[in-house]
Amino acid sequence: MKAVILAGGTGSRLKPLTYWTNKHLLPVGTYPMICYGVTALRDAGIRDIVIVTGRTALAGFADVLGSGRDWGVSLTYRVQEEAGGIAQALELARPVIASGEKFAVLLGDNLFEENLGHFRERFERQPEGAMVLLKKVDDPRRYGVPILSETDGKIVRIEEKPERPQTDFCVTGLYFYDSGVFDLIENISPSQRGEMEITDVNNAYAIQGKLAFAKVHGWWTDAGTFEALESAGKKLKGFLP
Ligand code: DAU
Repeated sequence: MKAVILAGGTGSRLKPLTYWTNKHLLPVGTYPMICYGVTALRDAGIRDIVIVTGRTALAGFADVLGSGRDWGVSLTYRVQEEAGGIAQALELARPVIASGEKFAVLLGDNLFEENLGHFRERFERQPEGAMVLLKKVDDPRRYGVPILSETDGKIVRIEEKPERPQTDFCVTGLYFYDSGVFDLIENISPSQRGEMEITDVNNAYAIQGKLAFAKVHGWWTDAGTFEALESAGKKLKGFLP
């Protein structure tokens, strides 16, 4: 299975640090953030990885990761010219994913404690559709929040950053898709904040009854705020990729 790491965007919640570098090149513990995503996928048995990032950041990623050889993976880079949203960044991987091929998508600021291989294996057994990973969090308002069906173990709908969340679970930034995702992206429009939202893509699967989920048991964090970046650095201090 291939994977796409989305590492573009503006990193607006980490300004002023992100005035001079891409969020995913910032240090977490002793490594740049992007290294954890690459090694998490590698350790899950995924060695063919596409990295999507912005034009000015590309050289930094090549400095850290090169071809991927020293990290035990093979890397392909795609450039997102403007930060138009997670779904728009994902669309750039279309030429690399064959029709009928299933793949994983990781948001580059998401860090997971547990080995992700069992999620990959589970999605390989899923005949079609998509799968997202859920985690219980203290403040679900910062995330996509799932509404779960009580009958069939699927997600009815995801609400993006709701003011009044209906559960204390959030949708983390590791997604699994069939190649039909690219046709679904074509049919969504930018949200009120002007971004092509991954939650709209996931909801398109949910409407078809094809959005499965699994729960994350180890710690998980997105390192997109100062508080989360600091706590991730403490958790990953001394980590050897
Ligand atoms: O971390 C999990 C959350 O990630 C989910 O619960 C939400 O449903 C999902 O929308 C997303 O929310 P965020 O507001 O945290 O997303 P953010 O804009 O921080 O983008 C997450 C990653 O996606 C970031 O590390 C870089 C990448 N990205 C983002 C944008 C907007 C791109 O590659 N290109 C982009 O244009």
